Amino acid sequence: MEPKNGYNKHGLFKTVGAFMGMCVYMYLLYIVYDEYTMENPMTLHPSGEPEFNRSKGLHDVDENASLIQRSVLPRYHYFISSLSAENTSSKFYSVWHEEATLPLRKSLNSKIIVVWNSTPKWPPKSPCSSMPQCVFSKDRRQVADADAVLFRGIHGFPLVYNRTEFPTVRPSHQYWIYMPYECPHLTRDIDLVSYGGVFNWTFTYRNDSDILATWGHVTQIYQELAENPPALNRDYAEHKTKLVLWYVSNCYKHLSRFAYVTELRKHIQVDIFGRCGNASHCGKKDRQCFIEHIRQYKFYLAFENFKCAEYITEKFWDNSLKNDVVPIVLGAPKDDYERFAPPNSFIHVDDFNSPRELANYLEYLDQNDHEYNQYFAWKTEPPKNLPVSWEGRYCEVCKKLLKTSPTERKVYTDLDRWWRGENYELCEPLIYDGSYKHPKNAIHFH
Ligand SMILES: *[C@@H]1O[C@H](CO)[C@@H](O)[C@H](O)[C@H]1NC(C)=O
Ligand SMILES: *[C@@H]1O[C@H](CO)[C@@H](O)[C@H](O)[C@H]1NC(C)=O
Ligand SMILES: *[C@@H]1O[C@H](CO)[C@@H](O)[C@H](O)[C@H]1NC(C)=O
Ligand SMILES: *[C@@H]1O[C@H](CO)[C@@H](O)[C@H](O)[C@H]1NC(C)=O
Ligand SMILES: *[C@@H]1O[C@H](CO)[C@@H](O)[C@H](O)[C@H]1NC(C)=O
Ligand SMILES: *[C@@H]1O[C@H](CO)[C@@H](O)[C@H](O)[C@H]1NC(C)=O
Ligand SMILES: *[C@@H]1O[C@H](CO)[C@@H](O)[C@H](O)[C@H]1NC(C)=O
Repeated sequence: MEPKNGYNKHGLFKTVGAFMGMCVYMYLLYIVYDEYTMENPMTLHPSGEPEFNRSKGLHDVDENASLIQRSVLPRYHYFISSLSAENTSSKFYSVWHEEATLPLRKSLNSKIIVVWNSTPKWPPKSPCSSMPQCVFSKDRRQVADADAVLFRGIHGFPLVYNRTEFPTVRPSHQYWIYMPYECPHLTRDIDLVSYGGVFNWTFTYRNDSDILATWGHVTQIYQELAENPPALNRDYAEHKTKLVLWYVSNCYKHLSRFAYVTELRKHIQVDIFGRCGNASHCGKKDRQCFIEHIRQYKFYLAFENFKCAEYITEKFWDNSLKNDVVPIVLGAPKDDYERFAPPNSFIHVDDFNSPRELANYLEYLDQNDHEYNQYFAWKTEPPKNLPVSWEGRYCEVCKKLLKTSPTERKVYTDLDRWWRGENYELCEPLIYDGSYKHPKNAIHFH
């Protein structure tokens, strides 16, 4: 089949209008609470994130929570004093310098980070083994000595700020770090307005965070490739017997990806596994089997639950890029993928006017190994301006603490709007139609 207008000879789809003509799908956008983005039990989160206990988690979140649930309870804003003339303020935070009171701790070159609401599996055992000068402790009794305190700001986190649930001692040089893991829709039951003036730094997947906590990183991908370099001119289509695979376990029918896949399946075979599709192909937690399953396919639907700016999860980084399969992505805008991901490593649904057009393109690639292999060219062509190193998100915490001036102070005065967007524009709206657990709100492909 000849490529259609709009594909150049490398199989790239050229600019389609910014508006995707997918109005049918656009208004179907968004969703409801998902159990921690885990599409299937074999999905590993980077750096050993906790495995979320589904049955527990469900109790932690008010499943009926609307997008914003502002509390009428009193706020606990800290009064921010001693701001000097050099302070800078954004709409969401203030930055200033404070004359150093003598640090209580002897060495400025070692840091203690207390993890306030740890779980048995979080943080992982050696969060950053390459930087022993940073000690991560789960012992709350060490909090007075800590340089930073890490708060996992999602399920189980106090829904309204209440100082009795936070450390009582708070030295002015200590950073309180907000780490939500997931996207704003998944923290929507937490009243972040009440957290104004509480946190000093943010630690999220978003690039404008103080510390970046992406689910994957292009440098890390290339580091791994350097250890196991793929053969030049390898044919990635070889031995692949199947076409499109999707693992999906959050079956809330208003997620726009369901409308998309329902339509896509009218035009091309899509094998669906997980709770919303056929019974799992692999045993629970059998990661190896999962990997081998993926590798039989040419394409993997790395469809996020939510369309939020820069929200690109392990579906993309781990399930797809590491398994020699081409991810088809739906979620963050294409620009975001282009900034974060290796060049030409994915197919974005926004490049197509309809699922049918995407299906045609996939069939074209299926018939054309040369074009298909272009999606793997990045593996042997590392970009020149690759960020120097990426040793995982926890090392970023350590690096940030070591490089920040001891007199620098910052506080998020409006964490809520920073996180959700001033007009909630950072995620597409949520469609909420009652309990997502109710069978009437589920979709199953069998
Ligand atoms: C998950 O939580 C439920 C309810 O608290 C508990 O019964 C179950 O044993 C937990 N499962 C795991 C794997 O920890
Ligand atoms: C959620 O909404 C459903 C239907 O409106 C209702 O039956 C249920 O009690 C609600 N759950 C909670 C926790 O409020
Ligand atoms: C410093 O902060 C104060 C209080 O937020 C603000 O009024 C003042 O304009 C800031 N100064 C500068 C130079 O940004
Ligand atoms: C804060 O928590 C304490 C103890 O859990 C509780 O007694 C108090 O009512 C809470 N305050 C608010 C404003 O929720
Ligand atoms: C489920 O498995 C059956 C039998 O292998 C297959 O015919 C069907 O297409 C599969 N359904 C999905 C949604 O993948
Ligand atoms: C993150 O933002 C910085 C500063 O704006 C920019 O230099 C960098 O390229 C961005 N990184 C990604 C992956 O978007
Ligand atoms: C963190 O924020 C609090 C509350 O505004 C402030 O008192 C403290 O100095 C800040 N700490 C740092 C290290 O910025």
